[in-house]
Amino acid sequence: MEFDNDTVLVTGAASGIGRATCERFAEEGAQVMVTDVNTPGGEEAVAALPGDADHEFHELDVTDAERFHEVVDDAAERHGLDVIVNNAGTGHPSSFVEDTDESMRDFVLRVNVEGVWNGCHAALPHMKEQGGGAIVNVGSLASIRGLPRQAAYSLSKGAVLNFTRAVAAEAGPDGVRANTVCPGFTDTPLLEQFLAQADDAEEARAKLRDDYPLGRLGEPEEIADCILFLASDWASWVTGHGLVVDGGYATT
Ligand code: NAI
Repeated sequence: MEFDNDTVLVTGAASGIGRATCERFAEEGAQVMVTDVNTPGGEEAVAALPGDADHEFHELDVTDAERFHEVVDDAAERHGLDVIVNNAGTGHPSSFVEDTDESMRDFVLRVNVEGVWNGCHAALPHMKEQGGGAIVNVGSLASIRGLPRQAAYSLSKGAVLNFTRAVAAEAGPDGVRANTVCPGFTDTPLLEQFLAQADDAEEARAKLRDDYPLGRLGEPEEIADCILFLASDWASWVTGHGLVVDGGYATT
């Protein structure tokens, strides 16, 4: 299996894309460090993982840099750290820039940008020391397009893409690859929250779906498969890349 004997840490792993990513890594033989700020959800996710590896759950708020180092250092010292997936993220209620509260903007930047920074900051010394590793950061369509009334989210996800490119440029000589996966609308609780703002959530979902050439929204497992590709040896010469996974929405 592709990730036999590898240790993989995933943030925001109690739900949606993060949870599906843990399942796929476990199916491919990895030992998975499931982390999330949501402890009951994370414990449930780790208990459901397939495979014989000794999977673990660790409570982790990605905005807490000290705790992030603690969790990564502990995992890396005991098992090594082959892959980190910085997936934890948050959205915000839709609003024009001029109506967006600064505290809301700062909250989104803390989780989506500082969280990814903290993960790379903690993982890079270990990966460099062991002579390699793969980082996959989760961006969004909003990394490459400006979404109206989602300016704070777009700001944060644009930053994730370009930060990841900088990490790739810096850490490439040490054998570390860093890539971003940029999902289109994907069926997760985060999307449900977004749609719940519409007067008619089902109508809003149908309208979104109609904009996609493949005629449907994404499934978390489809994003997970692309995360695994970027983390795998099949992508051994891919770094600094933003892989758009969106059923053709942005590129057609
Ligand atoms: P989700 O809401 O299903 O899962 C997000 C997970 O992150 C939850 O388990 C939550 O507890 C955790 N989380 C939130 N804040 C955290 C923090 N401070 N520290 C640790 N964990 C935290 O969302 P989904 O859709 O699976 O999102 C995963 C990533 O994919 C996010 O970065 C999101 O921005 C991105 N994304 C999602 C899209 C979608 O349509 N669902 C589209 C594009 C990007």
